Amino acid sequence: MKVENGCVVAPVPDGIDLKEEILRLKKEKNAIILAHYYTVGEIQDVADFVGDSLALAQIAERLDNDIIVMCGVHFMGETVKILCPDKKVLVPDLNAGCSLADSCPAPELEKFIKEHPGHTVVSYVNTSAAVKALTDIVVTSGNAMKVINSLPEDEKIIFGPDRNLGNYINAETGRDMVLWDGACHVHEKFSLEKILELKRQHPEAKVLVHPECPAPVRLVADKVGSTAVLLKWATESDADEFIVATESGILHEMKRKCPGKTFIPAPPEDSTCACNDCAYMKLNTMRKLYLTLLHEAPEVHVDESIIDRARRPITRMLSLS
Ligand code: 13P
Ligand code: SF4
Repeated sequence: MKVENGCVVAPVPDGIDLKEEILRLKKEKNAIILAHYYTVGEIQDVADFVGDSLALAQIAERLDNDIIVMCGVHFMGETVKILCPDKKVLVPDLNAGCSLADSCPAPELEKFIKEHPGHTVVSYVNTSAAVKALTDIVVTSGNAMKVINSLPEDEKIIFGPDRNLGNYINAETGRDMVLWDGACHVHEKFSLEKILELKRQHPEAKVLVHPECPAPVRLVADKVGSTAVLLKWATESDADEFIVATESGILHEMKRKCPGKTFIPAPPEDSTCACNDCAYMKLNTMRKLYLTLLHEAPEVHVDESIIDRARRPITRMLSLS
């Protein structure tokens, strides 16, 4: 076996039942599989726990397994490693990055912080471990308002890297945070026009929007929230139809939880595709997950000096959540 280009390169025997093998290996190795709602449905179905970024960080803190496999993107694996440095943390494909995290390289953020002395640095969880090490407190889309509202009203804040989430928090809280100019390539692509067109076809449908979407899209939302918040809202709503403006993987759990309801994915602009997918999340496949469990690779490594500095802003967030 070797790890090449971020993945295990090894044969998969013909005719094996990947699901059965994954469940067997997981038990044999005292491993746990965590998955984000954006991963493919078959991975969500074999995972021990599926959640949003906040819930995945919260559960990581409490695990006693020897191996943790994170089916999501790389920063999620890093967050688990930072919280559980003594565990073996695996990801099926090290190339599963995040365009939002990439929009904020640590050396550039360090320069930005120096240009804004006296500011508290608040970072979205969609950042590298090196960026978290420069951060005072981390937020997720699930707890951003709560964390920001816990800071004194006159506190000067730098928020990054997502300008859309930052604008949303500024608008909701009346703050004037200095924003890093980053965005997610998936959520930036939702278009108001296409959502309004869907609304014309489904006038009774409620519109669910992730806060990483641009302001015009958020304006037509019936609910703005993290993946877990949108899921809960749809489950508890009396409505039967929903237009969903976030990555399409969430529809798997929405349909599972609400079998009688209809979920319509909002399409990206300038595309004939019906759904808006995160190519990074979709790098997680059953085949790679099987090889990862079998060979216990590839592993997520975070520098010890970074782990020490990055843990504090994450645990500070968790203590408020
Ligand atoms: P959630 O924390 O809402 O699950 O979002 C994660 C993410 O990557 C959104 O693009
Ligand atoms: Fe990152 Fe966007 Fe993919 Fe979420 S959907 S993991 S923010 S690239």
